[in-house]
Amino acid sequence: MSKQRVLSGIQTTGNLHLGNYLGAIRNWVEIQQDYDNFFFFADLHAITVPHDAKVLAANTFNLAAIYLACGIDLNCSTIFVQSHVSAHSELAWLLNCVTPLNWLERMIQFKEKAVKQGENVGVGLLDYPVLMAADILLYDADKVPVGEDQKQHLELTRDIAGRVNDQFGKKKQPVLKVPEPMIRKEGARVMSLADGTKKMSKSDPSELSRIDLLDPPDAITRKIKKCKTDPVKGLAFDDPERPECHNLLTLYQLLGNKTKQEVAAECQDMGWGQFKPLLTETAVEALKPIQVKYNELMDNQDYLNSVLRDGAAKASSVANQTLVRVKDAMGFLPPM
Ligand code: AMP
Ligand code: TRP
Repeated sequence: MSKQRVLSGIQTTGNLHLGNYLGAIRNWVEIQQDYDNFFFFADLHAITVPHDAKVLAANTFNLAAIYLACGIDLNCSTIFVQSHVSAHSELAWLLNCVTPLNWLERMIQFKEKAVKQGENVGVGLLDYPVLMAADILLYDADKVPVGEDQKQHLELTRDIAGRVNDQFGKKKQPVLKVPEPMIRKEGARVMSLADGTKKMSKSDPSELSRIDLLDPPDAITRKIKKCKTDPVKGLAFDDPERPECHNLLTLYQLLGNKTKQEVAAECQDMGWGQFKPLLTETAVEALKPIQVKYNELMDNQDYLNSVLRDGAAKASSVANQTLVRVKDAMGFLPPM
């Protein structure tokens, strides 16, 4: 039996933080051997809010190095840049024409991000989930590993695929494969260091709210020293009154590769003064090998370029077949 297909991506907007790593990339690395994987750099999504043309290319390239540094294995995974495969934009247009506007107006992420853009919110931001549906559906993905925050977009993708199949599938033959979300419980939502009820985010204006994957040890030390805690002694998971405590214990658990039970037992009598240095050391040690590998890769840009070239070629050959299938089902005149 051939392996199931997994697909996922991350926007190319600046540095990645622990939320991206623990909520996304690390899970991909853990499961990749069991699947046929496509992981990409969502640069077309990165321009749905005002962007800086001077850094887009560099951000995309750095992200490629980060994927590999985190352990993406090219023997079972293809990595590529979204904008290098033109089928993404083209399928997004086709899907736009079958997607009801009110499905998009309901999207929580749109509503949240639109408020921040005020009067100048672009059409692309509203259309973001349709492009994401195109990303997924082009590869006939079986499973899409994402963080909790992307669940609604995956439900929309399933709805769009269902609608295309209803409207254009012939004799019960679906045109598009309906994908399944793959969402981990632990680490699915890493919270801000400054507020345990808010998710850790690239767009938070305070750098102290997040730990970036490329943060040097002194930055990690400073951020954990300053992070929000509570006055209670004895640390425990799952107390709704102590969101920061739950979040920091979860980070300690995931970065230290421990079980929840182990951490609960180890930390039940600790105070913050004892716990914070432990968490700091664990975070520094967990990120060190990624940072070493990242620097090696950045010194070898020709290699990275060749990986991206091969990735785009492989992705295009899969994506273009799906695009032809959809255009055919929708009744377009094929090119002569
Ligand atoms: P983004 O940075 O929004 O492109 O997100 C890239 C991936 O990281 C997606 O799969 C998100 O669900 C995941 N992600 C982003 N922020 C967090 C967070 N705070 N906790 C867990 N996962 C996250
Ligand atoms: N929207 C996703 C995020 O912010 C990134 C993304 C774009 C994605 N296209 C995708 C994730 C397709 C999974 C599948 O995290």
